[in-house]
Amino acid sequence: MNRSAPPHALFSRICISTAFGGDGAGIFPYTLHPFYRRLLKAVRETGATVFTKSATRHPRQGNFVPHNPLTWRYIRRLPSCGMLNAYGLTNPGVAKVAPAIRQACEAGFRVIPNFYPEFAKGLEMALTETLEVVALYRQALGPHFRALELNYSCPNAAEAVRENVTQALACTRALRQAAPDLALVAKVSICHPLEFCQELEHLGVAAIHAVNTIPYDLLYPLGPPSPLAAVGGGGVSGGPAFEVAFAYNRELRPKLRGFLIMGCGVAGREQVQRYLDIGADAVSLCTLALRRPREAAWIVRRYAGGG
Ligand SMILES: Cc1cc2nc3c(=O)[nH]c(=O)nc-3n(C[C@H](O)[C@H](O)[C@H](O)COP(=O)(O)O)c2cc1C
Repeated sequence: MNRSAPPHALFSRICISTAFGGDGAGIFPYTLHPFYRRLLKAVRETGATVFTKSATRHPRQGNFVPHNPLTWRYIRRLPSCGMLNAYGLTNPGVAKVAPAIRQACEAGFRVIPNFYPEFAKGLEMALTETLEVVALYRQALGPHFRALELNYSCPNAAEAVRENVTQALACTRALRQAAPDLALVAKVSICHPLEFCQELEHLGVAAIHAVNTIPYDLLYPLGPPSPLAAVGGGGVSGGPAFEVAFAYNRELRPKLRGFLIMGCGVAGREQVQRYLDIGADAVSLCTLALRRPREAAWIVRRYAGGG
């Protein structure tokens, strides 16, 4: 039985995805930027939902490492408010991240942790770790822990996104049974068939979040190779990704009955409106929050604040 809170009580109309970091309270050095700080304030004051950057059960070293300038090339700006990243899930692990999320919640942010189950370790290990993570978050966050976002869609991990469908469904099923009071958000990829989202909904997720960054080679199949080809090509976000993400969401909407968070490609208020016009229950912002925080703050106040 589904005992989690209803989606409208959990997710605001505009959500911040990843752009406030692993704890949901903001990323240094962006926090030095006055408009980013204005965005942080708008999010706190309106109670907009913040999805954290992904954490794994144990520390994981990806490509980008914040304190190593040699790895900064793995995150690049693209024209039209775009980004290309092959961040690759660098994070200190859930045990470290959880107390920091608690602090963010106590500071007034409505944070939902994002967890990346490492199916490459084998399904059994991934399930064990996922249940451990739920226990860790329960302990650290207490009543703040009402929902968990599952990243089934990272384009920068060695694990193949297209092939993780069976494992993701098994993971969702196990979580629904073990934690029926916890609302689950499944973050999917453009590489996933629409039926995958329908099955996730059937299993009782509270929301589908579609979609994560678009793999570079999928967006530019005929163009020159990705500048990040050596690490898998990376994922494109922001303006250049919008039309492709929008087409996926437009096709997905009538196939789902439940809460759908549409995202990827929002470069300003116009794309927010386009997602809302095709039936988004909520819209997520990431690249915009990093590249145009002033516009993101306007959007948050306009939509998440009910103004
Ligand atoms: C630098 C960077 C790092 C990201 N890291 C994660 C991550 O750890 N987990 C995740 O689920 N999505 C991650 N994303 C994806 C964003 O949350 C978002 O789904 C994607 O960028 C598309 O939305 P946008 O066009 O609004 O940026 C990342 C995006 C960027 C640009």
